[in-house]
Parts: sequence; structure tokens; C-alpha cells
Amino acid sequence: MGRVDKKIAIVTGGGNGIGRAIAERLAAEGAIVTVTDQNPAAGQAVADGIDTMQFLEHDVRIAADWAKVMDSVTQQHGRLDILINNAGILATESTQDVENTSLDQWRTVNAVNSEGVFLGCQHGIEAMKATGGSIVNLSSIAALMATPHLSAYGASKAAVRQLTKTVAVHCGRKGYRIRCNSVHPGVIQTSMGDEVMELAGGNAKENWAARIKAIPLGEPGTVEDVANCVLFLASDEARHVTGAQLIVDGGMTCA
Ligand SMILES: NC(=O)c1ccc[n+]([C@@H]2O[C@H](COP(=O)([O-])OP(=O)(O)OC[C@H]3O[C@@H](n4cnc5c(N)ncnc54)[C@H](O)[C@@H]3O)[C@@H](O)[C@H]2O)c1
Repeated sequence: MGRVDKKIAIVTGGGNGIGRAIAERLAAEGAIVTVTDQNPAAGQAVADGIDTMQFLEHDVRIAADWAKVMDSVTQQHGRLDILINNAGILATESTQDVENTSLDQWRTVNAVNSEGVFLGCQHGIEAMKATGGSIVNLSSIAALMATPHLSAYGASKAAVRQLTKTVAVHCGRKGYRIRCNSVHPGVIQTSMGDEVMELAGGNAKENWAARIKAIPLGEPGTVEDVANCVLFLASDEARHVTGAQLIVDGGMTCA
């Protein structure tokens, strides 16, 4: 039996990178997974050929999209057990230091990363409150430290960390049996990881080398490393874990 056998799961932003790895890991452990993404080609490609996966187009910034996704999944399966709020963006402009971040940039990043997770938690609670479940929100180590070259991103991820704890306590006290936890990846080998190194200024290759040097375990994390942590929090193995922040950074933030 899989670790999340027959659980009904939604993974947002599952068309690429970490979200894709989470969707595949949950499905491998027996979950029935709906991958959502604003990019239909990428999302459909993840679900294709896997019987226990389907794709729905979904922009996490739009409340009506959330309502459609939740209705579709709960009508099909009768409940929702796991919601992974993974969709996120880093930046849409080449600079994000606090002096040069435009209000448009701030709002765009926060609309996906912060408002998208808020809407997800709200709709997730509604869908799960009669039956219980697990919400996992993808934050970042950017929520835990200064991010001088990524001011909008860091603030948006700090909002996710805080909201996670608020949802956890709210749901616990209401007796909903919904747990809510955040996962904080560090330097992960993905296209977003490459983008971080580009935005840091100077030479991206040298930035990678410097970041890796700062990781006590001596190497960047993989999407599977993050997916394994999400799997644990999503599963009943974490039944007494809520409001926690699980850092997946090879020791970087404690060095
Ligand atoms: N990669 C890293 O190094 C790293 C580190 C820390 C945290 N994270 C967080 O992990 C999560 C996944 O990161 P990733 O590296 O896999 O990113 P990615 O860019 O590879 O994938 C993100 C996915 O989200 C989708 N998406 C973007 N905006 C969306 C929207 N409005 N609605 C629906 N889908 C949308 C994209 O189409 C894409 O498929 C993000 O929340 C990110 O902030 C990543």
C-alpha cells in the first residue's frame, strides 16, 4: 500500500519543476492526483499516460478558477484530502532590489505567490472541512532571510509562511482536522534556480558555485528532495504536524 493510497490530491503549478515532481511522487504512492497549471501544454504532458492523474487548466490568481477546480475534483471524487499550493513565480523584471522594484512587479509576484496561496487555502478549507485533510504550501528560504535582489519574492514567501501558521491554528481550533504546513526549499536545481542566479547579478555560473559553497551538505537540492518532504507532510505519517515549516536547504540557513 502506498503512503497516500487512494487520497484525492491537487497540485498547483504541477506542469514543471518541483510541482511536477510532487505530483509524480504522490501518484507513485497511490494518490489520485489533479495537476493544475496555467500552462495547459506542460500540465497535460505531466498527466498524460498516468491513469491516476488528470490535468485542469487553472490560474491560481483567479477565484473563479479555484471554484471550478474544487467543484470538478469534489464532484468526481466526493472529497479532497491533499492540496499542494506549489505554483509560484520569481520575477517578471530583471531587477528586484527594493529601490528598483516597480509596484507592478510587486503586485504581479504577490498576486501569484501570496494571493494564489490565500485563495488556495480558503477554497481548500471549504472543500476539506467536513472530511479533514492536509494543505502544504511551497514557501522558500527567501521567507526566512533577507533577499536584497528579490524583494517582492521574499516578501511573498514570508506571507506564505505566516498564512500557513494562521490556517493551521484556525483549522485546529475549529476542529476541522485540516493540517497546514509550509515547505522551504533552498537552492534547488530547477529553471527557477537558474533564474535566481541570473537575477543575483554578475556571472550566473559563479553565483551557482558561491551558493553551493554556502550549503553545508555541499550540493544543491533536487526536485525529488523537495517532493519527498511534501509527501511526508501530505501523508498521515504527519498526523500531529501542523503549522510547521520544513526547511529543505542542505543546512544553508543554519550555517
Ligand atoms: N526552484 C527553486 O530553487 C525554489 C526554491 C524555493 C522555493 N521554490 C518554490 O517552489 C515552487 C515551485 O518552483 P519551481 O522551481 O518548480 O518553479 P517552475 O517555474 O519550474 O514551475 C512553476 C509552475 O507554476 C506554474 N504557474 C506559474 N504561475 C501560475 C499561475 N498564476 N497559476 C497556475 N500556475 C502557475 C508555471 O506554469 C509552472 O509550471 C514555487 O512556489 C517556488 O517559489 C522554488
